[in-house]
Amino acid sequence: MTRHRLALILSLLLLNQSAAQAEMPAADPSPYALALSADGTRMLVANSGNGTVALVDPQAGKILSVIPTGEKPAGVALARDGKRAVVTHWYGYDLAILDIKSDKLSVAGRVAVGAEPRGVVLSPDGKFAYAALGSTNEVVRVDLAERNVTGRLEVGREPRGLAISRDGLKLAVGNVRAESISIIDRIAWKVERTISVAGTNLRQVTFDHDGKYAYVANMQNRGMATTANNIDLGWVLGQRLSRVKVAGGEPVDVLSLDPKGKAVGDVYGVAMSTDGAKLALSAGGTHELLLLSVKDEPLPWRERVGRDLIPQELLKNDGRFRRTEVGGRPTELAFAPDNKTIYAANYLDNSIQAIDFDSGKVVRTISLGGPATPSLARKGEILFHDATRSSNQWYSCNTCHGDGHTAGLDFDTMNDGWHDYSTAHQYSRKKVPTLRRVAKTGPWTWHGWQNSLQDATVESFTKSMQGKRPTVDESKAVIAFLETLDYPRNPNRDHDGGLSPAARRGETIFRSTKATCVKCHSGSEFTDGKIHEVGLEERRDVYRGYNPPSLRGVYDKDPYLHDGRAKTLKDVITGPHSPEELGGTSLSPAEVDDLVAYLKSL
Ligand code: HEC
Ligand code: HEC
Repeated sequence: MTRHRLALILSLLLLNQSAAQAEMPAADPSPYALALSADGTRMLVANSGNGTVALVDPQAGKILSVIPTGEKPAGVALARDGKRAVVTHWYGYDLAILDIKSDKLSVAGRVAVGAEPRGVVLSPDGKFAYAALGSTNEVVRVDLAERNVTGRLEVGREPRGLAISRDGLKLAVGNVRAESISIIDRIAWKVERTISVAGTNLRQVTFDHDGKYAYVANMQNRGMATTANNIDLGWVLGQRLSRVKVAGGEPVDVLSLDPKGKAVGDVYGVAMSTDGAKLALSAGGTHELLLLSVKDEPLPWRERVGRDLIPQELLKNDGRFRRTEVGGRPTELAFAPDNKTIYAANYLDNSIQAIDFDSGKVVRTISLGGPATPSLARKGEILFHDATRSSNQWYSCNTCHGDGHTAGLDFDTMNDGWHDYSTAHQYSRKKVPTLRRVAKTGPWTWHGWQNSLQDATVESFTKSMQGKRPTVDESKAVIAFLETLDYPRNPNRDHDGGLSPAARRGETIFRSTKATCVKCHSGSEFTDGKIHEVGLEERRDVYRGYNPPSLRGVYDKDPYLHDGRAKTLKDVITGPHSPEELGGTSLSPAEVDDLVAYLKSL
């Protein structure tokens, strides 16, 4: 973390503390992750919104200690002895080692691990931490005594959730964009297996009580256009629980979770009781927990993709499947050792909630602070994550634009003028664009036909989500939220933000008449805001030409082009979008490499 950012966080915290006197709005804590001690008496919470970690007594409902740790805490782990802990900083690119003495937290050290660390666990002896790096597609091993990285393993694209088996021998990591789970042998330090789950938006990962299966909460992109009919049949996207056999043996077991007419939005957390009898999932979009009893009968699993809707036998009201409203946006979950209480980090409620599995009731809410009334941007953030704003509550903006970014998926949101859906198998899909800095990069949509961000927002509610029209105030709030979304620090630049020699050579090529890039990718956002025909038109396109997308953060927008046809940046500029295709002259292999190095630095 830069000194500037640390200073900013510290000052934010001081502001938080004196907010009452100074009447300054405190930042929302927005907890993303939690970790419970083995005896269930202490809990750590990663507050992604205000850069802090909280130590909580979850049984007494008391906050014991809160300290600033870094930029966007996104994962926490607690040692079995309760004295050591770690937190990962999604935007800070480091892992902080925390000491816990007499219920007080302090930062004992920091280890720079790499870009976008989120899921983190500790070895049973508390000597090593393992973290998933979303940007560089690795799991790193950190020696906490040495305070350095002692191993890196390549996994699939965009690892996020990470779990350790109870015997400490295996790690399971959910690779979001690779749509797979990697099983790691922790001692031999190698990736044992990578299992395709054919599902997207993989979130929390957990092992079951005896380490036989790893579970992940995920979404399934079914590919059809966002008509109300398709949505309600589960043909656009649906929510799933998937599990893979740790010791091997395909295929993956899948359980669909959406009841027709009242679907489930944005599953995130998953936890299993230590006796293996209970499963809980959180669904942030529909503000609820899903409680599954697996004691008497196994769940009606299906292979691979699952059914379009939840299996009927789970809707008999016999207690096997229950839904319980908790409000806000529940994210990570943990079962207490009593095998009865579930703890949920609630991002939009700024709280930790304790839910009783048997009664399905919230029995305790532990507030983590935050402003008394939400800011305009926060109101927009609430709308952005609210699946009840879509037809029969199937999904939210966040389902497709996860965390305001893109997971490289494509959907047919009927935004490109193609409207002949006379047969169900016709569609015209487009890659989901990132919404980072979106307010600065008009016109909107790939074709660039939309000149108003306000109108684009309205269309998103009414077309992409087939929901009710937002009020003017609601659109304003959503736009205020979009304006808060920015790129993380570019990890391909050196420490003071400078370019590597290759990237500097690439910049010269980018600006040359040979490559012609700046003809269209100009200005601070690398787009001229105009529409160009670049030879990528499709038969079904109603609008001609495309609006050059911003090239900021382009290293993390794969796959590329409006239909994601190019897997890598090299594929883009040596294939369908090469200088030759754009009126320039061909580049040598060395020039291509330099240009890619430059693009990665933007
Ligand atoms: C089903 C997936 C899906 C959902 C849900 C969704 N979007 Fe999108 N969004 C897309 C796709 C795909 C595009 C590109 C469409 C195109 O260009 O034809 C897009 C484009 C956009 C754009 C234009 C971005 C740009 O750079 O041109 C904005 C703004 C946007 N969405 C905001 C939202 C908001 C706000 C919501 C919720 C109200 C939302 N979206 C819900 C998939 C989705
Ligand atoms: C004539 C205008 C024009 C020129 C010149 C041009 N581009 Fe583009 N660029 C576009 C348009 C339009 C798109 C979107 C096309 C599509 O997706 O169908 C695009 C897309 C891209 C993308 C994909 C971005 C994403 O998010 O998927 C990259 C990368 C890119 N351009 C890089 C370059 C580079 C590097 C050069 C120079 C070699 C260049 N472009 C030259 C107009 C241009």
